Amino acid sequence: MSRNKAADPLLNHEYDGIREYDNPTPGWWHVLFLLSIVFSFFYFLYYEVNPESATNESTLLAARVAETKRIFGAVGELSPDEATIQAMRGNAQFLEVAAGIFIGNCAQCHGRDGTGGTGTNLTDDEYKNVNRLEDIYSVITRGAGGQAMPAWDNRLSQNERVILAAYVANLRGSATGGKGPEGKAIAPWPPIPAPEKN
Ligand code: HEC
Repeated sequence: MSRNKAADPLLNHEYDGIREYDNPTPGWWHVLFLLSIVFSFFYFLYYEVNPESATNESTLLAARVAETKRIFGAVGELSPDEATIQAMRGNAQFLEVAAGIFIGNCAQCHGRDGTGGTGTNLTDDEYKNVNRLEDIYSVITRGAGGQAMPAWDNRLSQNERVILAAYVANLRGSATGGKGPEGKAIAPWPPIPAPEKN
Protein backbone atom coordinates (compact mmCIF):
# COMPACT_ATOMS: atom_id res chain seq x y z
CA MET A 1 0.00 0.00 0.00
CA SER A 2 1.46 3.41 -0.91
CA ARG A 3 1.85 5.83 1.92
CA ASN A 4 1.07 9.51 1.92
CA LYS A 5 4.10 10.85 3.75
CA ALA A 6 2.70 14.37 3.97
CA ALA A 7 -0.39 13.08 5.84
CA ASP A 8 1.62 10.61 7.95
CA PRO A 9 4.73 12.53 9.00
CA LEU A 10 7.54 10.61 10.65
CA LEU A 11 7.43 10.94 14.40
CA ASN A 12 10.45 12.20 16.28
CA HIS A 13 11.32 9.25 18.43
CA GLU A 14 13.54 6.39 17.44
CA TYR A 15 14.15 3.07 19.19
CA ASP A 16 17.05 0.92 18.05
CA GLY A 17 16.85 2.56 14.63
CA ILE A 18 13.13 1.98 14.32
CA ARG A 19 11.03 5.03 13.57
CA GLU A 20 7.28 5.22 13.06
CA TYR A 21 4.86 7.20 11.01
CA ASP A 22 2.13 9.20 12.68
CA ASN A 23 -0.53 6.81 11.46
CA PRO A 24 -3.63 7.09 13.68
CA THR A 25 -6.50 4.57 13.58
CA PRO A 26 -9.05 5.79 11.04
CA GLY A 27 -12.13 7.79 11.97
CA TRP A 28 -14.59 5.02 11.01
CA TRP A 29 -12.80 2.70 13.44
CA HIS A 30 -13.28 5.20 16.27
CA VAL A 31 -16.93 5.53 15.34
CA LEU A 32 -17.42 1.76 15.49
CA PHE A 33 -15.59 1.60 18.76
CA LEU A 34 -17.71 4.32 20.35
CA LEU A 35 -20.93 2.88 18.91
CA SER A 36 -20.11 -0.51 20.43
CA ILE A 37 -19.70 1.15 23.84
CA VAL A 38 -23.02 2.94 23.45
CA PHE A 39 -24.62 -0.31 22.29
CA SER A 40 -23.22 -2.26 25.24
CA PHE A 41 -24.76 0.26 27.63
CA PHE A 42 -28.27 -0.31 26.26
CA TYR A 43 -27.66 -4.03 25.86
CA PHE A 44 -26.67 -4.26 29.51
CA LEU A 45 -29.71 -2.28 30.63
CA TYR A 46 -32.04 -4.41 28.52
CA TYR A 47 -30.75 -7.87 29.40
CA GLU A 48 -29.28 -7.42 32.89
CA VAL A 49 -31.29 -4.66 34.55
CA ASN A 50 -34.74 -4.88 32.98
CA PRO A 51 -36.58 -7.80 34.63
CA GLU A 52 -39.06 -8.00 31.74
CA SER A 53 -36.46 -8.65 29.06
CA ALA A 54 -37.15 -11.69 26.94
CA THR A 55 -34.29 -14.15 26.77
CA ASN A 56 -34.50 -17.20 24.53
CA GLU A 57 -35.16 -19.24 27.63
CA SER A 58 -38.02 -17.12 28.94
CA THR A 59 -39.58 -16.93 25.46
CA LEU A 60 -39.47 -20.71 25.20
CA LEU A 61 -40.93 -21.08 28.68
CA ALA A 62 -43.76 -18.65 27.90
CA ALA A 63 -44.52 -20.53 24.68
CA ARG A 64 -44.59 -23.82 26.59
CA VAL A 65 -46.92 -22.43 29.23
CA ALA A 66 -49.23 -20.98 26.55
CA GLU A 67 -49.29 -24.30 24.70
CA THR A 68 -50.03 -26.23 27.89
CA LYS A 69 -52.85 -23.79 28.73
CA ARG A 70 -54.24 -24.26 25.26
CA ILE A 71 -54.37 -28.04 25.44
CA PHE A 72 -55.56 -27.99 29.07
CA GLY A 73 -58.26 -25.51 28.05
CA ALA A 74 -59.58 -28.09 25.61
CA VAL A 75 -60.07 -30.77 28.31
CA GLY A 76 -61.18 -28.65 31.29
CA GLU A 77 -60.23 -29.87 34.75
CA LEU A 78 -59.00 -33.46 34.88
CA SER A 79 -60.22 -35.38 37.91
CA PRO A 80 -57.61 -37.35 39.84
CA ASP A 81 -59.39 -40.69 39.58
CA GLU A 82 -58.12 -43.98 38.27
CA ALA A 83 -59.98 -43.79 34.94
CA THR A 84 -58.58 -40.36 34.10
CA ILE A 85 -55.02 -41.24 35.09
CA GLN A 86 -55.35 -44.44 33.04
CA ALA A 87 -56.56 -42.47 30.01
CA MET A 88 -53.66 -40.02 30.38
CA ARG A 89 -51.18 -42.92 30.41
CA GLY A 90 -52.03 -43.39 26.73
CA ASN A 91 -52.09 -39.70 25.77
CA ALA A 92 -48.80 -38.89 24.04
CA GLN A 93 -49.38 -35.13 23.98
CA PHE A 94 -50.03 -34.81 27.71
CA LEU A 95 -47.24 -37.23 28.55
CA GLU A 96 -44.84 -34.96 26.69
CA VAL A 97 -46.01 -31.97 28.76
CA ALA A 98 -45.67 -34.09 31.91
CA ALA A 99 -42.14 -35.13 30.92
CA GLY A 100 -41.18 -31.44 30.79
CA ILE A 101 -42.68 -30.83 34.25
CA PHE A 102 -40.88 -33.88 35.60
CA ILE A 103 -37.50 -32.75 34.27
CA GLY A 104 -38.04 -29.26 35.68
CA ASN A 105 -39.32 -30.21 39.15
CA CYS A 106 -38.76 -33.85 40.01
CA ALA A 107 -35.60 -35.00 38.23
CA GLN A 108 -33.29 -33.37 40.77
CA CYS A 109 -34.41 -35.93 43.36
CA HIS A 110 -35.77 -38.84 41.31
CA GLY A 111 -33.29 -38.69 38.41
CA ARG A 112 -34.02 -37.67 34.82
CA ASP A 113 -34.98 -41.26 33.99
CA GLY A 114 -36.78 -41.80 37.32
CA THR A 115 -34.23 -44.27 38.70
CA GLY A 116 -33.89 -42.31 41.93
CA GLY A 117 -31.39 -40.25 43.90
CA THR A 118 -32.42 -38.34 46.99
CA GLY A 119 -35.90 -39.51 46.04
CA THR A 120 -37.04 -43.07 45.52
CA ASN A 121 -36.59 -45.11 42.37
CA LEU A 122 -39.82 -44.67 40.38
CA THR A 123 -38.97 -47.29 37.75
CA ASP A 124 -39.00 -50.39 39.97
CA ASP A 125 -41.96 -52.33 41.39
CA GLU A 126 -41.47 -51.27 45.03
CA TYR A 127 -43.30 -48.28 46.48
CA LYS A 128 -43.49 -46.81 49.97
CA ASN A 129 -46.67 -44.74 49.68
CA VAL A 130 -48.37 -46.11 46.59
CA ASN A 131 -50.70 -49.06 46.04
CA ARG A 132 -53.02 -47.70 43.36
CA LEU A 133 -52.68 -45.16 40.55
CA GLU A 134 -54.56 -42.49 42.51
CA ASP A 135 -51.99 -42.77 45.32
CA ILE A 136 -49.36 -41.33 42.98
CA TYR A 137 -51.54 -38.26 42.58
CA SER A 138 -51.99 -38.02 46.37
CA VAL A 139 -48.25 -38.24 47.06
CA ILE A 140 -47.50 -35.57 44.46
CA THR A 141 -50.26 -33.35 45.87
CA ARG A 142 -49.59 -33.75 49.59
CA GLY A 143 -45.96 -34.87 49.72
CA ALA A 144 -44.62 -37.81 51.74
CA GLY A 145 -41.90 -38.83 54.17
CA GLY A 146 -42.38 -35.75 56.36
CA GLN A 147 -41.99 -33.49 53.29
CA ALA A 148 -38.74 -35.16 52.19
CA MET A 149 -41.02 -35.53 49.18
CA PRO A 150 -42.47 -32.00 48.93
CA ALA A 151 -46.19 -31.27 48.43
CA TRP A 152 -46.90 -29.77 45.00
CA ASP A 153 -50.49 -28.61 45.39
CA ASN A 154 -49.42 -24.95 45.58
CA ARG A 155 -46.91 -25.17 42.80
CA LEU A 156 -48.56 -27.34 40.16
CA SER A 157 -52.15 -27.19 38.94
CA GLN A 158 -54.46 -30.16 39.38
CA ASN A 159 -54.21 -30.98 35.67
CA GLU A 160 -50.43 -30.92 35.88
CA ARG A 161 -50.50 -33.27 38.87
CA VAL A 162 -52.90 -35.67 37.13
CA ILE A 163 -50.76 -35.95 33.99
CA LEU A 164 -47.62 -36.23 36.16
CA ALA A 165 -49.23 -39.15 37.99
CA ALA A 166 -49.78 -40.84 34.60
CA TYR A 167 -46.20 -40.07 33.57
CA VAL A 168 -44.82 -41.44 36.87
CA ALA A 169 -46.96 -44.58 36.52
CA ASN A 170 -45.43 -45.14 33.07
CA LEU A 171 -41.91 -44.74 34.48
CA ARG A 172 -42.45 -48.07 36.21
CA GLY A 173 -40.49 -50.68 34.28
CA SER A 174 -39.05 -48.09 31.89
CA ALA A 175 -35.49 -48.44 33.17
CA THR A 176 -33.35 -50.83 35.19
CA GLY A 177 -30.72 -50.18 37.84
CA GLY A 178 -30.59 -47.03 39.90
CA LYS A 179 -31.51 -46.74 43.56
CA GLY A 180 -32.35 -49.96 45.40
CA PRO A 181 -35.93 -50.91 46.27
CA GLU A 182 -37.75 -49.04 49.04
CA GLY A 183 -41.13 -50.14 50.35
CA LYS A 184 -42.94 -53.19 49.03
CA ALA A 185 -43.67 -54.63 45.60
CA ILE A 186 -47.22 -53.82 44.46
CA ALA A 187 -49.56 -55.34 41.89
CA PRO A 188 -48.94 -54.29 38.27
CA TRP A 189 -50.89 -51.34 36.82
CA PRO A 190 -53.73 -52.09 34.46
CA PRO A 191 -52.41 -52.19 30.86
CA ILE A 192 -51.87 -48.82 29.17
CA PRO A 193 -54.98 -48.01 27.09
CA ALA A 194 -54.75 -47.51 23.33
CA PRO A 195 -53.48 -44.02 22.37
CA GLU A 196 -56.15 -41.37 22.57
CA LYS A 197 -56.26 -38.28 20.36
CA ASN A 198 -57.38 -34.85 21.57
C1 HEC B 1 -36.54 -32.73 47.29
C2 HEC B 1 -36.53 -34.00 46.64
C3 HEC B 1 -37.76 -34.44 45.89
C4 HEC B 1 -38.40 -33.80 44.87
C5 HEC B 1 -38.06 -32.44 44.25
C6 HEC B 1 -39.46 -34.67 44.44
N1 HEC B 1 -39.47 -35.80 45.20
FE1 HEC B 1 -40.77 -37.34 45.04
N2 HEC B 1 -39.96 -38.21 46.68
C7 HEC B 1 -38.85 -37.75 47.36
C8 HEC B 1 -38.61 -38.62 48.50
C9 HEC B 1 -37.48 -38.47 49.51
C10 HEC B 1 -39.61 -39.62 48.47
C11 HEC B 1 -39.82 -40.75 49.46
C12 HEC B 1 -40.76 -40.27 50.56
C13 HEC B 1 -40.89 -41.26 51.67
O1 HEC B 1 -39.88 -41.61 52.27
O2 HEC B 1 -42.03 -41.68 51.93
C14 HEC B 1 -40.43 -39.32 47.30
C15 HEC B 1 -41.52 -40.07 46.92
C16 HEC B 1 -42.22 -39.90 45.76
C17 HEC B 1 -43.27 -40.76 45.29
C18 HEC B 1 -43.79 -41.99 46.02
C19 HEC B 1 -42.82 -43.12 45.80
C20 HEC B 1 -43.05 -44.24 46.80
O3 HEC B 1 -42.24 -45.19 46.76
O4 HEC B 1 -43.99 -44.19 47.57
C21 HEC B 1 -43.70 -40.27 44.09
C22 HEC B 1 -44.80 -40.86 43.20
C23 HEC B 1 -42.94 -39.09 43.82
N3 HEC B 1 -42.06 -38.88 44.85
C24 HEC B 1 -43.10 -38.30 42.70
C25 HEC B 1 -42.49 -37.06 42.56
C26 HEC B 1 -42.83 -36.13 41.51
C27 HEC B 1 -43.81 -36.36 40.39
C28 HEC B 1 -42.07 -35.01 41.73
C29 HEC B 1 -42.07 -33.70 40.95
C30 HEC B 1 -43.30 -32.97 40.94
C31 HEC B 1 -41.24 -35.26 42.90
N4 HEC B 1 -41.54 -36.51 43.38
C32 HEC B 1 -40.32 -34.38 43.41
C33 HEC B 1 -38.11 -36.65 47.05
C34 HEC B 1 -38.45 -35.70 46.10
